[in-house]
Amino acid sequence: MKVLLLQGGAKKKGNTAKVLGWVEEELKSSGHEVETVYLHSKTLKGCMGCAKCKDIPDKIGCAQKDDAPEILGKMIHAQAVVFSSPLYFWGVNAQLKAVIDRTYSLYTNANTPDHASLVEGQRQALLVTGAGPWDNNAEGAFTAFGRMQKYHKAVHAGELFVGGCTTPAAMDSSVKERAVEFARKLTA
Ligand SMILES: Cc1cc2nc3c(=O)[nH]c(=O)nc-3n(C[C@H](O)[C@H](O)[C@H](O)COP(=O)(O)O)c2cc1C
Repeated sequence: MKVLLLQGGAKKKGNTAKVLGWVEEELKSSGHEVETVYLHSKTLKGCMGCAKCKDIPDKIGCAQKDDAPEILGKMIHAQAVVFSSPLYFWGVNAQLKAVIDRTYSLYTNANTPDHASLVEGQRQALLVTGAGPWDNNAEGAFTAFGRMQKYHKAVHAGELFVGGCTTPAAMDSSVKERAVEFARKLTA
C-alpha cells in the first residue's frame, strides 16, 4: 500500500516525530511504500474559502500558490494517510490544520447526491501526542477529524493519542506497541 505520513510536529526529533517514526518503521517492515512530509518545512497558507476549487471537480483546483497543492497531490495518490500533530490547546497545531483546511479543494457537492471526492475510500488516521495525562484530552481533535473524513468520503482507519509526553527519550515500550498496532490497523 502507498502510505503518506504527514509529520505535523515542528520538532524533527520531538514526541510526534518519535511515535510517527515507529509507525513508519512498522509500515516499511511490512512492505508498504511510505513517504513522510515534514510540514514545518513547507509554506502553507490558510484556506481563503474562495471556493474557486469547487469549479474544478476532477482535480485539485486550489487558487493559492504555495506547497499545499503538492502535498494534496501526494495525498490523492496514496491509499492511506496518517495525519499527525502535537495537541495544541485541545486541537491539532497550525501546520496540520492548514493542510486539513486546504483539503477543502478535494471534494465537491458535499451534502448532495453528487458528492464527489478525490480521496474517496482512502484510509486515514490521526496520531496526536500531548503533555496532559487525560485519556480523552484529544477528544475534540478526533471528533473534528472524523467529521472531516465524511467530507473526504474517506475510511476511518485509526486514532492514537499518546498523552503524558515529556521527552521522546522518556517514552516506554508500551508507546511503541501502540504505534505498531496503529500502523497495522491503518493498513488492515
Ligand atoms: C502551544 C502549545 C499548546 C499545547 N496544548 C496542549 C494541550 O492542549 N494538551 C496537551 O496535552 N498538551 C499540550 N501541549 C503539549 C504538547 O502537545 C506536547 O508536549 C507534545 O507532545 C509536543 O509534541 P512535539 O514534541 O512533537 O512538538 C501544548 C504545547 C504547546 C507548545
